[in-house]
Amino acid sequence: MLQEFELSSYLREQQGLIDRELERALDGDIPEPLRASIHYSLMSGGKRLRPILCLAACTAHDGRPEVAIPTAVALEMLHTATLIHDDLPAMDNDDFRRGRPTNHKVFGEGVAVLTGDALLAYSLEYMLTRTEAPPQQLLRVVSTLLHAIGVHGAIGGQVIDIQNTNRADVDLPTLESMDSRKTGALLVAALVSGAVLADASEEIIARLCLYGEKIGLAFQIVDDILDVTSTLDELGKTPHKDDRANKATFPRLLGLEESRRRATTLVESAKQEVEILGKGATPLFAIADYVCSRSH
Ligand code: IPE
Ligand code: IPE
Ligand code: MG
Ligand code: MG
Ligand code: MG
Repeated sequence: MLQEFELSSYLREQQGLIDRELERALDGDIPEPLRASIHYSLMSGGKRLRPILCLAACTAHDGRPEVAIPTAVALEMLHTATLIHDDLPAMDNDDFRRGRPTNHKVFGEGVAVLTGDALLAYSLEYMLTRTEAPPQQLLRVVSTLLHAIGVHGAIGGQVIDIQNTNRADVDLPTLESMDSRKTGALLVAALVSGAVLADASEEIIARLCLYGEKIGLAFQIVDDILDVTSTLDELGKTPHKDDRANKATFPRLLGLEESRRRATTLVESAKQEVEILGKGATPLFAIADYVCSRSH
């Protein structure tokens, strides 16, 4: 009970910090309606999990959170870009996101496509021009983010998603590979970049990477479960979409109970990976539990 209370205030505090930083990142001269469109999708109450993980990985190893804040901002921009594109008629064709009409419903498909593209580019520009870190660290963070978003990460995973929609024969390895890329990769990048900016050892980075792979897969399993069990009000996005769109999901392949069991097992195993960090891992432990217990 006490731990639950501490986690929710920790999350609220971190979300407040990230929201303020995101607002600041949109201060510059951006032509309309691009600025309005970016603002609409970015400032609409996401959980901010990826920036929170980045800051948690940085501070877990005694890093100063300030050094990782521009990267945390960039991660949320990258994530939001994937959401805008994921919702497009050519992809999941969704009407609601974060409790509001999707970006293309408000700004039209042309601006929505360009808003996603703009966020991909601006995220890296922002991170590179704001981070005060040695060039070697900066280069590693940039290549980590690009790996997570590109052919090996979210975009590659989304293509696997499209290829496996409306198929009856999707197997477990395909599903795991799809989810690890489309969702897990950015969570891994958040942790690795936070640790790199804290100058963590390669052993710690490798542990955080394993932790991220496990909670990343669990996160998408739970997303698939919530699509079956939750409501529009709770989720802020239309439920039962996966079934209607014939998506390859964990509940469809394994059933709800086995999917829940797998998510729990992954989270428990993720926590073991970061035990080595001692007290510094407390937020990472609580966030891992939250991945399974969340209601949206
Ligand atoms: C939704 O991500 C898309 C997936 C990767 C499953 P989140 O559940 O983190 O969405 P927000 O950012 O809180 O809206
Ligand atoms: C999307 O997965 C993962 C991304 C990379 C955006 P979903 O299509 O299941 O995400 P939701 O349910 O629309 O948020
Ligand atoms: Mg999708
Ligand atoms: Mg979707
Ligand atoms: Mg989903």
